[in-house]
Amino acid sequence: MSTHTVCLIPGDGIGPEITTSLREVIAAAGVQIDWNVVEAGAGVMDEYGTPLPDHVLDAIASAKVAIKGPVTTPVGSGFRSINVALRKHFDLYTNLRPARSIAGTGARYDDVDIVLFRENTEDLYAGVEVEEGSAEAAELIDWAASHDLGTIRPDSAISLKPISVTASERIVRAAFDYAVANGRHKVCAVHKANIMKYTDGLFLHTAERVAQDYAGQIEFETRIVDATCMGLVTDPSDFDVMVMPNLYGDIVSDLCAGLVGGLGMAPGANIGDEIAVFEAVHGSAPDIAGQGIANPTAEILSGCMLLDHLGEREAATRIRAAVEAVFAAGKVLTGDVKKIVSGSADGAASTQEFTQAVIAAL
Ligand code: NAI
Repeated sequence: MSTHTVCLIPGDGIGPEITTSLREVIAAAGVQIDWNVVEAGAGVMDEYGTPLPDHVLDAIASAKVAIKGPVTTPVGSGFRSINVALRKHFDLYTNLRPARSIAGTGARYDDVDIVLFRENTEDLYAGVEVEEGSAEAAELIDWAASHDLGTIRPDSAISLKPISVTASERIVRAAFDYAVANGRHKVCAVHKANIMKYTDGLFLHTAERVAQDYAGQIEFETRIVDATCMGLVTDPSDFDVMVMPNLYGDIVSDLCAGLVGGLGMAPGANIGDEIAVFEAVHGSAPDIAGQGIANPTAEILSGCMLLDHLGEREAATRIRAAVEAVFAAGKVLTGDVKKIVSGSADGAASTQEFTQAVIAAL
Protein backbone atom coordinates (compact mmCIF):
# COMPACT_ATOMS: atom_id res chain seq x y z
CA MET A 1 0.00 0.00 0.00
CA SER A 2 1.36 3.44 -0.90
CA THR A 3 1.98 6.19 1.63
CA HIS A 4 0.35 9.55 0.97
CA THR A 5 1.89 12.84 2.04
CA VAL A 6 -0.66 15.25 3.52
CA CYS A 7 -0.05 18.64 5.08
CA LEU A 8 -1.79 18.95 8.46
CA ILE A 9 -2.54 22.27 10.14
CA PRO A 10 -3.87 21.40 13.63
CA GLY A 11 -5.14 24.96 14.20
CA ASP A 12 -6.04 26.20 17.67
CA GLY A 13 -8.94 26.03 20.15
CA ILE A 14 -10.38 22.52 19.74
CA GLY A 15 -8.29 22.04 16.56
CA PRO A 16 -5.47 19.98 18.12
CA GLU A 17 -7.99 17.72 19.92
CA ILE A 18 -10.10 16.93 16.86
CA THR A 19 -7.15 16.58 14.45
CA THR A 20 -5.63 14.04 16.88
CA SER A 21 -8.88 12.06 16.58
CA LEU A 22 -8.73 12.34 12.81
CA ARG A 23 -5.19 10.96 12.65
CA GLU A 24 -6.01 8.10 15.01
CA VAL A 25 -9.08 7.05 13.04
CA ILE A 26 -7.32 7.20 9.66
CA ALA A 27 -4.37 5.19 11.03
CA ALA A 28 -6.74 2.60 12.51
CA ALA A 29 -8.46 2.29 9.11
CA GLY A 30 -5.09 1.21 7.71
CA VAL A 31 -4.32 4.17 5.45
CA GLN A 32 -0.68 5.20 5.61
CA ILE A 33 -0.23 8.95 5.66
CA ASP A 34 2.99 10.83 6.14
CA TRP A 35 1.64 13.92 7.94
CA ASN A 36 3.61 17.09 7.38
CA VAL A 37 2.45 19.05 10.44
CA VAL A 38 2.75 22.86 10.21
CA GLU A 39 1.32 25.54 12.48
CA ALA A 40 -0.66 28.61 11.44
CA GLY A 41 -2.75 31.23 13.24
CA ALA A 42 -2.32 33.60 16.16
CA GLY A 43 0.18 31.28 17.88
CA VAL A 44 2.83 31.82 15.19
CA MET A 45 2.34 35.60 14.82
CA ASP A 46 5.15 36.53 17.22
CA GLU A 47 7.67 34.21 15.60
CA TYR A 48 6.89 34.91 11.92
CA GLY A 49 5.01 38.22 11.95
CA THR A 50 2.12 36.61 10.02
CA PRO A 51 -0.53 33.98 10.85
CA LEU A 52 0.18 32.25 7.55
CA PRO A 53 3.97 31.97 7.11
CA ASP A 54 5.50 31.14 3.71
CA HIS A 55 6.70 27.71 4.87
CA VAL A 56 3.05 26.73 5.53
CA LEU A 57 2.08 27.78 2.00
CA ASP A 58 5.11 25.88 0.65
CA ALA A 59 4.15 22.75 2.62
CA ILE A 60 0.60 22.83 1.18
CA ALA A 61 1.90 23.52 -2.34
CA SER A 62 4.29 20.59 -2.11
CA ALA A 63 1.78 18.05 -0.68
CA LYS A 64 -1.06 19.40 -2.88
CA VAL A 65 -3.48 18.13 -0.21
CA ALA A 66 -4.00 19.55 3.27
CA ILE A 67 -6.40 19.15 6.15
CA LYS A 68 -6.96 21.85 8.74
CA GLY A 69 -8.29 22.18 12.20
CA PRO A 70 -10.14 25.45 12.83
CA VAL A 71 -8.10 28.60 13.38
CA THR A 72 -9.29 31.45 15.61
CA THR A 73 -9.54 34.84 13.92
CA PRO A 74 -8.93 37.27 16.80
CA VAL A 75 -11.35 40.21 16.60
CA GLY A 76 -9.63 43.53 15.93
CA SER A 77 -6.15 41.97 15.60
CA GLY A 78 -5.75 43.15 12.04
CA PHE A 79 -5.35 39.68 10.61
CA ARG A 80 -7.90 38.41 8.18
CA SER A 81 -9.12 34.84 8.24
CA ILE A 82 -6.37 32.48 7.11
CA ASN A 83 -9.09 30.45 5.39
CA VAL A 84 -9.85 33.36 3.10
CA ALA A 85 -6.12 33.86 2.53
CA LEU A 86 -5.66 30.17 1.60
CA ARG A 87 -8.62 30.24 -0.80
CA LYS A 88 -7.18 33.29 -2.54
CA HIS A 89 -3.56 32.14 -2.60
CA PHE A 90 -4.31 28.73 -4.11
CA ASP A 91 -7.43 29.76 -6.07
CA LEU A 92 -9.51 27.15 -4.22
CA TYR A 93 -12.64 28.07 -6.12
CA THR A 94 -14.91 25.23 -4.98
CA ASN A 95 -16.26 25.13 -1.45
CA LEU A 96 -17.71 21.63 -1.26
CA ARG A 97 -20.09 20.99 1.61
CA PRO A 98 -22.02 17.73 1.86
CA ALA A 99 -24.94 17.39 4.29
CA ARG A 100 -26.10 13.86 5.01
CA SER A 101 -28.40 12.65 7.79
CA ILE A 102 -26.91 10.27 10.32
CA ALA A 103 -29.42 8.32 12.41
CA GLY A 104 -29.08 8.80 16.16
CA THR A 105 -27.81 12.39 16.03
CA GLY A 106 -31.18 13.93 16.73
CA ALA A 107 -31.14 15.59 13.30
CA ARG A 108 -34.41 17.06 12.12
CA TYR A 109 -34.53 14.88 9.02
CA ASP A 110 -33.37 11.35 8.39
CA ASP A 111 -33.38 11.46 4.59
CA VAL A 112 -31.05 14.34 3.66
CA ASP A 113 -28.23 13.65 1.22
CA ILE A 114 -27.20 16.95 -0.33
CA VAL A 115 -23.85 18.00 -1.79
CA LEU A 116 -23.53 21.77 -2.08
CA PHE A 117 -21.02 23.53 -4.35
CA ARG A 118 -20.39 27.11 -3.28
CA GLU A 119 -18.37 29.45 -5.52
CA ASN A 120 -15.49 30.57 -3.35
CA THR A 121 -13.74 33.49 -5.05
CA GLU A 122 -16.10 36.32 -5.96
CA ASP A 123 -19.60 37.76 -5.38
CA LEU A 124 -20.02 40.07 -2.35
CA TYR A 125 -17.09 38.18 -0.74
CA ALA A 126 -14.62 39.62 -3.25
CA GLY A 127 -13.88 42.33 -0.69
CA VAL A 128 -14.52 45.26 -3.03
CA GLU A 129 -16.04 47.47 -0.35
CA VAL A 130 -15.98 51.17 0.42
CA GLU A 131 -16.61 52.77 3.79
CA GLU A 132 -19.45 55.13 4.55
CA GLY A 133 -18.26 58.75 4.26
CA SER A 134 -15.14 57.88 2.22
CA ALA A 135 -14.11 59.68 -0.97
CA GLU A 136 -14.54 56.38 -2.85
CA ALA A 137 -18.11 56.01 -1.59
CA ALA A 138 -18.92 59.58 -2.66
CA GLU A 139 -17.42 58.90 -6.09
CA LEU A 140 -19.48 55.73 -6.54
CA ILE A 141 -22.66 57.49 -5.41
CA ASP A 142 -22.05 60.33 -7.92
CA TRP A 143 -21.17 57.85 -10.64
CA ALA A 144 -24.41 55.85 -10.09
CA ALA A 145 -26.47 59.05 -10.21
CA SER A 146 -24.76 60.36 -13.35
CA HIS A 147 -25.37 57.04 -15.15
CA ASP A 148 -29.07 56.95 -14.22
CA LEU A 149 -28.48 53.84 -12.08
CA GLY A 150 -30.49 55.17 -9.18
CA THR A 151 -30.07 57.18 -6.04
CA ILE A 152 -27.82 55.84 -3.31
CA ARG A 153 -28.17 57.58 0.07
CA PRO A 154 -25.13 59.75 0.86
CA ASP A 155 -24.54 57.98 4.19
CA SER A 156 -24.07 54.58 2.55
CA ALA A 157 -21.26 52.04 2.63
CA ILE A 158 -21.07 50.05 -0.61
CA SER A 159 -20.00 46.52 -1.57
CA LEU A 160 -19.62 45.46 -5.18
CA LYS A 161 -20.82 42.08 -6.38
CA PRO A 162 -18.66 40.82 -9.24
CA ILE A 163 -19.87 37.58 -10.87
CA SER A 164 -17.85 36.40 -13.87
CA VAL A 165 -18.48 33.91 -16.66
CA THR A 166 -15.12 32.28 -15.86
CA ALA A 167 -15.84 31.62 -12.18
CA SER A 168 -19.49 30.66 -12.77
CA GLU A 169 -18.60 28.21 -15.52
CA ARG A 170 -15.90 26.40 -13.57
CA ILE A 171 -18.02 25.98 -10.40
CA VAL A 172 -21.04 24.73 -12.35
CA ARG A 173 -18.83 22.33 -14.29
CA ALA A 174 -17.31 21.10 -11.01
CA ALA A 175 -20.83 20.35 -9.71
CA PHE A 176 -21.83 18.44 -12.86
CA ASP A 177 -18.54 16.52 -13.00
CA TYR A 178 -19.03 15.53 -9.35
CA ALA A 179 -22.60 14.40 -10.10
CA VAL A 180 -21.37 12.21 -12.97
CA ALA A 181 -18.44 10.75 -11.00
CA ASN A 182 -20.55 9.99 -7.93
CA GLY A 183 -23.73 8.58 -9.48
CA ARG A 184 -25.87 11.59 -8.59
CA HIS A 185 -28.96 12.33 -10.66
CA LYS A 186 -29.70 16.06 -10.40
CA VAL A 187 -27.94 19.43 -10.22
CA CYS A 188 -29.87 22.48 -9.00
CA ALA A 189 -28.47 25.96 -9.72
CA VAL A 190 -29.60 28.55 -7.16
CA HIS A 191 -29.85 32.27 -7.95
CA LYS A 192 -31.83 35.50 -7.56
CA ALA A 193 -31.80 36.44 -11.23
CA ASN A 194 -35.35 37.82 -11.09
CA ILE A 195 -33.90 40.77 -9.13
CA MET A 196 -30.18 40.81 -9.98
CA LYS A 197 -30.60 40.44 -13.71
CA TYR A 198 -26.98 41.03 -14.68
CA THR A 199 -24.96 39.31 -11.93
CA ASP A 200 -27.22 36.41 -10.96
CA GLY A 201 -28.59 36.43 -14.50
CA LEU A 202 -25.08 35.74 -15.74
CA PHE A 203 -24.66 32.90 -13.24
CA LEU A 204 -28.01 31.40 -14.25
CA HIS A 205 -27.39 31.62 -18.01
CA THR A 206 -23.90 30.19 -17.62
CA ALA A 207 -25.33 27.29 -15.61
CA GLU A 208 -27.99 26.67 -18.28
CA ARG A 209 -25.31 26.63 -20.98
CA VAL A 210 -23.00 24.25 -19.07
CA ALA A 211 -25.97 21.98 -18.25
CA GLN A 212 -26.47 21.34 -21.97
CA ASP A 213 -23.14 19.47 -22.02
CA TYR A 214 -24.59 16.99 -19.53
CA ALA A 215 -28.10 16.74 -21.03
CA GLY A 216 -29.47 13.20 -20.93
CA GLN A 217 -26.94 12.31 -18.25
CA ILE A 218 -27.75 14.58 -15.31
CA GLU A 219 -31.09 16.29 -14.66
CA PHE A 220 -30.87 20.07 -14.27
CA GLU A 221 -33.13 22.51 -12.49
CA THR A 222 -32.91 26.13 -11.37
CA ARG A 223 -34.41 27.67 -8.27
CA ILE A 224 -34.60 31.11 -6.72
CA VAL A 225 -32.68 31.27 -3.43
CA ASP A 226 -35.58 32.25 -1.15
CA ALA A 227 -37.82 29.48 -2.50
CA THR A 228 -34.85 27.12 -2.18
CA CYS A 229 -34.62 27.81 1.56
CA MET A 230 -38.31 27.10 2.01
CA GLY A 231 -38.03 23.93 -0.06
CA LEU A 232 -35.05 22.75 1.99
CA VAL A 233 -36.86 23.01 5.31
CA THR A 234 -40.10 21.49 4.01
CA ASP A 235 -38.74 18.66 1.85
CA PRO A 236 -34.93 18.37 1.77
CA SER A 237 -35.16 14.97 0.07
CA ASP A 238 -36.03 16.87 -3.11
CA PHE A 239 -32.43 18.15 -3.40
CA ASP A 240 -29.34 16.33 -4.63
CA VAL A 241 -26.32 18.33 -5.91
CA MET A 242 -26.66 22.12 -5.58
CA VAL A 243 -24.49 24.91 -7.00
CA MET A 244 -24.61 28.62 -6.23
CA PRO A 245 -22.67 31.87 -5.91
CA ASN A 246 -20.62 32.62 -2.79
CA LEU A 247 -23.05 34.43 -0.46
CA TYR A 248 -26.04 32.13 -1.04
CA GLY A 249 -23.69 29.16 -0.69
CA ASP A 250 -22.47 30.36 2.68
CA ILE A 251 -25.98 30.74 4.07
CA VAL A 252 -27.69 27.78 2.39
CA SER A 253 -24.89 25.39 3.39
CA ASP A 254 -25.33 26.32 7.07
CA LEU A 255 -29.05 25.76 6.63
CA CYS A 256 -28.26 22.29 5.24
CA ALA A 257 -25.91 21.60 8.19
CA GLY A 258 -28.79 22.50 10.50
CA LEU A 259 -31.02 19.94 8.80
CA VAL A 260 -28.57 17.14 9.59
CA GLY A 261 -27.62 17.93 13.18
CA GLY A 262 -25.62 21.15 13.17
CA LEU A 263 -22.07 22.32 12.60
CA GLY A 264 -20.54 19.53 14.68
CA MET A 265 -21.58 17.15 11.87
CA ALA A 266 -20.63 19.28 8.85
CA PRO A 267 -17.47 18.45 6.87
CA GLY A 268 -16.08 20.58 4.06
CA ALA A 269 -13.39 21.09 1.45
CA ASN A 270 -11.90 23.95 -0.53
CA ILE A 271 -10.75 22.67 -3.88
CA GLY A 272 -8.89 24.20 -6.81
CA ASP A 273 -7.45 22.70 -9.99
CA GLU A 274 -4.18 21.77 -8.26
CA ILE A 275 -4.71 21.86 -4.52
CA ALA A 276 -7.37 20.78 -2.05
CA VAL A 277 -7.71 21.84 1.60
CA PHE A 278 -10.16 19.90 3.77
CA GLU A 279 -11.66 21.16 7.04
CA ALA A 280 -14.70 20.94 9.27
CA VAL A 281 -17.15 23.80 8.78
CA HIS A 282 -17.23 24.80 12.46
CA GLY A 283 -14.79 27.16 14.18
CA SER A 284 -12.29 26.75 17.01
CA ALA A 285 -14.99 26.66 19.74
CA PRO A 286 -12.96 28.64 22.32
CA ASP A 287 -15.73 28.07 24.90
CA ILE A 288 -14.92 24.34 25.12
CA ALA A 289 -11.28 24.27 23.96
CA GLY A 290 -8.79 22.22 25.97
CA GLN A 291 -11.49 20.31 27.86
CA GLY A 292 -11.41 17.20 25.67
CA ILE A 293 -15.17 17.34 25.06
CA ALA A 294 -15.41 18.53 21.43
CA ASN A 295 -17.23 16.44 18.86
CA PRO A 296 -14.65 15.28 16.28
CA THR A 297 -17.27 14.00 13.78
CA ALA A 298 -17.07 16.93 11.34
CA GLU A 299 -13.27 16.70 11.24
CA ILE A 300 -13.36 12.90 10.84
CA LEU A 301 -15.91 13.23 7.99
CA SER A 302 -13.68 15.90 6.40
CA GLY A 303 -10.95 13.26 6.65
CA CYS A 304 -13.22 10.86 4.73
CA MET A 305 -13.52 13.46 1.96
CA LEU A 306 -9.72 13.71 1.99
CA LEU A 307 -9.45 9.91 1.68
CA ASP A 308 -11.92 9.94 -1.25
CA HIS A 309 -9.73 12.60 -2.88
CA LEU A 310 -6.63 10.43 -2.35
CA GLY A 311 -8.40 7.46 -3.97
CA GLU A 312 -8.80 5.65 -0.62
CA ARG A 313 -12.54 5.26 -1.07
CA GLU A 314 -12.85 1.91 0.65
CA ALA A 315 -11.29 3.25 3.87
CA ALA A 316 -13.45 6.38 3.70
CA THR A 317 -16.58 4.26 3.37
CA ARG A 318 -15.53 2.09 6.33
CA ILE A 319 -14.89 5.13 8.53
CA ARG A 320 -18.26 6.70 7.62
CA ALA A 321 -19.97 3.41 8.45
CA ALA A 322 -18.14 3.24 11.81
CA VAL A 323 -19.23 6.80 12.69
CA GLU A 324 -22.80 5.89 11.76
CA ALA A 325 -22.65 2.73 13.88
CA VAL A 326 -21.53 4.70 16.95
CA PHE A 327 -24.40 7.16 16.57
CA ALA A 328 -26.91 4.38 15.87
CA ALA A 329 -25.86 2.57 19.07
CA GLY A 330 -26.37 5.85 20.95
CA LYS A 331 -24.16 4.92 23.90
CA VAL A 332 -21.03 7.00 23.26
CA LEU A 333 -22.06 10.55 22.35
CA THR A 334 -20.24 13.84 22.89
CA GLY A 335 -22.08 16.50 24.91
CA ASP A 336 -23.34 18.55 21.96
CA VAL A 337 -25.16 15.56 20.47
CA LYS A 338 -26.23 14.02 23.77
CA LYS A 339 -27.92 17.27 24.68
CA ILE A 340 -29.94 17.22 21.46
CA VAL A 341 -30.80 13.55 21.71
CA SER A 342 -31.67 13.34 25.42
CA GLY A 343 -32.03 16.94 26.59
CA SER A 344 -28.95 16.83 28.83
CA ALA A 345 -25.19 16.45 28.33
CA ASP A 346 -24.84 14.54 31.62
CA GLY A 347 -22.71 11.43 31.19
CA ALA A 348 -21.51 12.52 27.76
CA ALA A 349 -18.43 10.92 26.21
CA SER A 350 -15.14 12.76 25.81
CA THR A 351 -13.57 13.42 22.41
CA GLN A 352 -11.22 10.49 23.00
CA GLU A 353 -13.96 8.11 24.16
CA PHE A 354 -15.95 8.89 21.03
CA THR A 355 -12.83 8.46 18.87
CA GLN A 356 -12.04 5.07 20.40
CA ALA A 357 -15.66 3.97 19.88
CA VAL A 358 -15.35 4.85 16.17
CA ILE A 359 -12.07 2.91 15.96
CA ALA A 360 -13.66 -0.09 17.68
CA ALA A 361 -16.50 -0.01 15.11
CA LEU A 362 -14.16 -0.03 12.09
P1 NAI B 1 -17.66 27.93 16.48
O1 NAI B 1 -18.08 27.03 15.36
O2 NAI B 1 -16.25 27.82 16.92
O3 NAI B 1 -18.59 27.67 17.75
C1 NAI B 1 -20.01 27.88 17.75
C2 NAI B 1 -20.63 27.01 18.85
O4 NAI B 1 -20.61 25.64 18.42
C3 NAI B 1 -19.87 27.05 20.17
O5 NAI B 1 -20.78 26.97 21.23
C4 NAI B 1 -19.02 25.80 20.14
O6 NAI B 1 -18.70 25.28 21.42
C5 NAI B 1 -19.87 24.84 19.34
N1 NAI B 1 -19.05 23.89 18.56
C6 NAI B 1 -18.36 24.15 17.42
N2 NAI B 1 -17.71 23.07 16.99
C7 NAI B 1 -17.97 22.10 17.90
C8 NAI B 1 -17.59 20.74 18.03
N3 NAI B 1 -16.78 20.16 17.11
N4 NAI B 1 -18.03 20.04 19.08
C9 NAI B 1 -18.85 20.59 19.99
N5 NAI B 1 -19.27 21.87 19.93
C10 NAI B 1 -18.83 22.62 18.90
O7 NAI B 1 -17.98 29.40 15.99
P2 NAI B 1 -17.55 30.80 16.64
O8 NAI B 1 -17.66 30.75 18.12
O9 NAI B 1 -18.34 31.80 15.87
O10 NAI B 1 -16.04 31.02 16.22
C11 NAI B 1 -14.93 30.78 17.08
C12 NAI B 1 -13.65 31.10 16.33
O11 NAI B 1 -13.47 30.19 15.24
C13 NAI B 1 -13.63 32.51 15.71
O12 NAI B 1 -12.36 33.08 15.93
C14 NAI B 1 -13.84 32.28 14.22
O13 NAI B 1 -13.24 33.27 13.45
C15 NAI B 1 -13.15 30.94 14.05
N6 NAI B 1 -13.64 30.18 12.90
C16 NAI B 1 -12.72 29.44 12.23
C17 NAI B 1 -13.11 28.64 11.18
C18 NAI B 1 -12.07 27.83 10.49
O14 NAI B 1 -10.89 27.94 10.80
N7 NAI B 1 -12.46 27.01 9.55
C19 NAI B 1 -14.51 28.55 10.73
C20 NAI B 1 -15.43 29.33 11.56
C21 NAI B 1 -14.98 30.11 12.60
